[in-house]
Amino acid sequence: MEKILVLVKPDGVEKGNTGAILARLEATGTRLVAARMLKISRETAEKHYAVHRERPFFNSVVEYITSGPVVAAVFEGKDVISVIRRAMGATDPAKAEPGTIRKDFAESIERNAVHGSDSPETAEYEISLYFKPEDILSY
Ligand code: TYD
Repeated sequence: MEKILVLVKPDGVEKGNTGAILARLEATGTRLVAARMLKISRETAEKHYAVHRERPFFNSVVEYITSGPVVAAVFEGKDVISVIRRAMGATDPAKAEPGTIRKDFAESIERNAVHGSDSPETAEYEISLYFKPEDILSY
């Protein structure tokens, strides 16, 4: 079954939107199979955003994602990556569709409330940054 790594980002946690964001994701009909709250280290953040290392926003996004607690979660289901990313909305909240998480909760393209892996390969890598295999439960 396909899996996706989700982060409720520091702006989402700080504003008390964690529960609302996870509820929207659960409402997609996909299944929450792991969750934890943590403060991401600089080392992990640089691994998480390694594909963006050469982009102008790399340092800023690493600073931001390490700036406060996040909630990391794994969701599982059929086509879970496209289902969850549709519920999240466009990266830039100004371009996100009505009813999406980023439209309703994000502040800016950087402080955009939520992260979701964009492919099965990325999901496997990102899940391994935050969870041990035994942390992911089936029920
Ligand atoms: P990206 O992987 O393109 O988007 P998504 O999170 O929708 O998969 O970018 C990763 C993060 O980098 C994004 O959530 C916010 C940040 N970012 C910026 O700060 N500025 C930008 O111009 C872009 C494209 C992304």
